Amino acid sequence: NVPPGPKPWPLIGNFGHFLVPRFVSKRIGERREEHEQTRPGSLSPQVALLELSKFYGNIYSLFIGNQMIVILTGYEVVRDALSNRADVFSDRPDVPLVTIMTKRKGIVFAPYGPVWRQQRKFCHTTLRSFGLGRLSLEPLILRELGEVKAELLRTHTETQGAPVSLAPLVSNAVSNVISSISLGQRFSQGDRELHTLLDLMARGLELCVNSPAVLINVFPWLYHLPFGAFKEIRQVERDITVFLKEIIARHRDSLDPDNPRDLIDMYLAETAQQRESVGATETSFSEDYLFYIIGDLFIAGTDTTTNTMLWMLLYMSVYPDIQEKVQAEIDSVVGFSRVPSLTDKASLPFTEATIMEVQRMTAVVPLAIPHMASETTVFRGYTIPKGTVIIPNLWSVHRDPTVWDNPDDFNPTRFLDQNGQILRQESFIPFGIGRRLCMGEQLAKMELFLMFSSLMQAFSFRLPDGLPPPSMDGRFGLTLAPLPYTVHVTPREEGVCQ
Ligand code: HEM
Repeated sequence: NVPPGPKPWPLIGNFGHFLVPRFVSKRIGERREEHEQTRPGSLSPQVALLELSKFYGNIYSLFIGNQMIVILTGYEVVRDALSNRADVFSDRPDVPLVTIMTKRKGIVFAPYGPVWRQQRKFCHTTLRSFGLGRLSLEPLILRELGEVKAELLRTHTETQGAPVSLAPLVSNAVSNVISSISLGQRFSQGDRELHTLLDLMARGLELCVNSPAVLINVFPWLYHLPFGAFKEIRQVERDITVFLKEIIARHRDSLDPDNPRDLIDMYLAETAQQRESVGATETSFSEDYLFYIIGDLFIAGTDTTTNTMLWMLLYMSVYPDIQEKVQAEIDSVVGFSRVPSLTDKASLPFTEATIMEVQRMTAVVPLAIPHMASETTVFRGYTIPKGTVIIPNLWSVHRDPTVWDNPDDFNPTRFLDQNGQILRQESFIPFGIGRRLCMGEQLAKMELFLMFSSLMQAFSFRLPDGLPPPSMDGRFGLTLAPLPYTVHVTPREEGVCQ
């Protein structure tokens, strides 16, 4: 009794559902046309998968080739699988291209087990320790914000308030936070070395998701072809390896274990300590493993946070009344003589509720990261064989009408109680749920709060006149990004822009 689903085609399974839904699946095709009449072009994978659940139920199956994939829809089912049955559903599948690139090391794609647990625990604790000691995160984030604000101000003066794209600035600031934490270096305009590293990572991701290299997942031998995307992906991989290994070597050569400068130093010190206490063959800590951890922090921590920030500023431009309410709250609590700090968070409930509501509406990692059943099990009456890929549709959880009133409406007050204080909702899970919950949740929340409140304090954001409102459906890559947009950015009070 496996979960129901559309009939797979020989060899390709239901691959077409992901690629060309209009042509391959009549059912989903009809839905798409219906949908497009009201919201043109908006049937991205998370929506298509939600639509399919209306035919097959909250637990249904699809096939890619002969690989079974189970899609979980709605809060109750997602929580039941990832939280209550975490022992079975916390593994990651062995996706050929990902395995080639990561060797199943690091954290994000590592198999569920003692090595993943040990590495995750160390990194999680280390990230948290940055919040406290000498390597404090708040000044680090505020420094990046200062640069963003100065640049916005400069552009405003130079272009006399012409609309600007916010993406490059936000992305640079977010990358700098991760880079300062992990490598102890930030990207300055003149720093070609680190810019090249970022470009290479972005290109690598693009090739993995949006190029013929995707076919390596079906025919792994394609990886060795000497042309096109296949050749390029090997080159990108080699270049990233050379870069990061060199940075790690420089850290090793100048390491002072009592004065760690960043995560690399802390990891190297831990590696040395573990080797001494349990022996080199018994510990999972090594320079080789560290390389994959650094890659993970960039991959998991940059696009996610950048796109959430870009969504927030887009939503504020589309909903000027909400923007004004956020600004009024910040003005009355913080004023203009200083920038907002983390200690203001509890006094800015409407601002926090607005951040949460944007995260709910956009679910920036809409399909989480694929999970896998580590053993054959019976889940809610269905047999799920060992090795089945599990996709929790987090986007569907945030649009679940059984837990949210009018889920398609943008309404920050749903996160406030009758006293205007934050109302925690357990079905709000932009960072996932269960043992594979986002490891960077605390860091991301700090960044989002500081950046959003500070930008709202310093500037107003407005859509260009005379243009149709931008689509709010976004573009699905690994994360859900807003479509490129530009806005007018107007300084509010001069002092707070610095
Ligand atoms: C995993 C969301 C920022 C590190 C995840 C997952 C989600 C998520 C949904 C997958 C959960 C699952 O597989 O069930 C987000 C969002 C972010 C964000 C919405 C920003 C707004 C960050 C940052 C970092 C980070 C800043 C690192 C510093 C990770 C890691 C994992 C992960 C390492 C894999 C955890 C594991 O497999 O054990 N994140 N994330 N994330 N995230 Fe984030």
